[in-house]
Amino acid sequence: MKISFAKPGLPTEGAIVVGVLEGRVLTATAGELDGKSGGTLTRAMNASRFEGKKDQTLMLVAPAGLELSRVVLVGLGAADKFDVKAAEALGGAAAAQLQGTGDTAAAIAVDAIDGSSLSAGDIAAHVALGARLRSYRFDKYMTKEKKEEKPALKKLTVLCEDASAAKRLFQPMESVANGVCLTRDLASEPANVIYPESLADQARKLADIGVDVEVLGEKQMRKLGMGALLGVGQGSDRESQLVVMQWNGAGDTDSKPIAFVGKGVTFDSGGISIKPSANMEDMKWDMGGAAVVIGLMKALAERKARVNAIGVVGLVENMPSGKAQRPGDVVTSMSGQTVEVINTDAEGRLVLADALWYTQDRFKPRFMINLATLTGAIIISLGSEYAGLFSNDDTLAQRIAAAGQAVGEPVWRMPLGEAYDKQLKSDIADMKNVGGREGGSITAAQFLKRFVNDVPWAHIDIAGVTWAKKDAATVPKGATAFGVRLLERLVAEHYEEK
Ligand code: BES
Ligand code: MN
Ligand code: ZN
Repeated sequence: MKISFAKPGLPTEGAIVVGVLEGRVLTATAGELDGKSGGTLTRAMNASRFEGKKDQTLMLVAPAGLELSRVVLVGLGAADKFDVKAAEALGGAAAAQLQGTGDTAAAIAVDAIDGSSLSAGDIAAHVALGARLRSYRFDKYMTKEKKEEKPALKKLTVLCEDASAAKRLFQPMESVANGVCLTRDLASEPANVIYPESLADQARKLADIGVDVEVLGEKQMRKLGMGALLGVGQGSDRESQLVVMQWNGAGDTDSKPIAFVGKGVTFDSGGISIKPSANMEDMKWDMGGAAVVIGLMKALAERKARVNAIGVVGLVENMPSGKAQRPGDVVTSMSGQTVEVINTDAEGRLVLADALWYTQDRFKPRFMINLATLTGAIIISLGSEYAGLFSNDDTLAQRIAAAGQAVGEPVWRMPLGEAYDKQLKSDIADMKNVGGREGGSITAAQFLKRFVNDVPWAHIDIAGVTWAKKDAATVPKGATAFGVRLLERLVAEHYEEK
């Protein structure tokens, strides 16, 4: 779907989407259409339950005399509550409606909204972003879907008085959307297609947009002493990989980088501590954290963010086999700390232990943020609305929480503390890899904390938010890419050169 911006004016083909404020107050273009059609829009509203409330939509066949297929009314809610998230939700709702109609072209008339603090250009850009994000689809393996079953929309024009401002504002947003879509694609792919080496190949493609990409194989990781990560991958026929991505966008090339680290378990069977078979297929997206880091690097590089950013992803497949790691095995991590592997299904923290240590050791970053589908326990705590946030740095934690709130990817801070850390005590090694059922997400975070060497750090447990079971305003069901928008916002807000 191609998105463009143009000055207001009734289109001569396809569908038109217009806004209606709460209380059935028509915005300018809606009013114009109502006038031209002898009050058809008003009659249609009065004959339905559509009141212009947020998230309401009403679809009409275009009244006679108009060269259009249909008119879609979308509720804007109250003008003074209409913010960027509402604009994105509107774009998303419109896109979802239009995907079902068979229209190949459509326009969204976004008029200035009296009483909203947003400019028309701002509204238009966010509407476009919402439409773009919601119309994402992963359908490459659907070979039998008929043409009339597929969304037909090819051209979406957002109408706005200040079309050039809207276009300018949308440009960086489009890069973010491209990052989000890459992340969703990677997480949606099955594990026979995306495995450590093929995921590393996907990351390598970022070289086209100026990202410096290095891939370490098992031999190099063994030399570095990454026994924790390698132990997880040793039961798999696929070779483990560590991908290091660098985007040097700061004018000051010496400026300390910021770093993002992702868990990339391309399939988590549990290993010898094998998972029950029900829903095991979900574990193809256990590389969701790595996919976010890769999508984020794409977004930052494509919009040429003025920052030095590092992305590191640890890629492994966790499988049972005659070569697999056993419960009770002791591994030595790159940090020198030893770990008793009580449960081979607590593998993500082992992968991150070496990825985090490597990142701080090599890059001495201003901070490290890791993302991981780390624990089922975080789903019990927070469901699929909030991701879990753990941090050793209050400023960093607050900034992350604020960025998440702003883009609709909310995080909830969870505690850390010595008492939890004690649960990791082992009788044979420096620690064990599980701390029992109580506070399972917290002890997992305590485990990671032992490998950050006191660098400002945050861990975002995205197990509950990486895959959506139902559609939301700007996120169709399936892979969400939760984290890309949040971290892109964090960077834009606090870590870019002005
Ligand atoms: N990848 C899983 C966590 C997960 C579960 C993510 C469900 C998404 C949905 C992780 O590797 C895991 O298996 N964690 C175990 C840890 C336990 C063995 C201490 C868990 O949460 O059960
Ligand atoms: Mn696991
Ligand atoms: Zn896992």
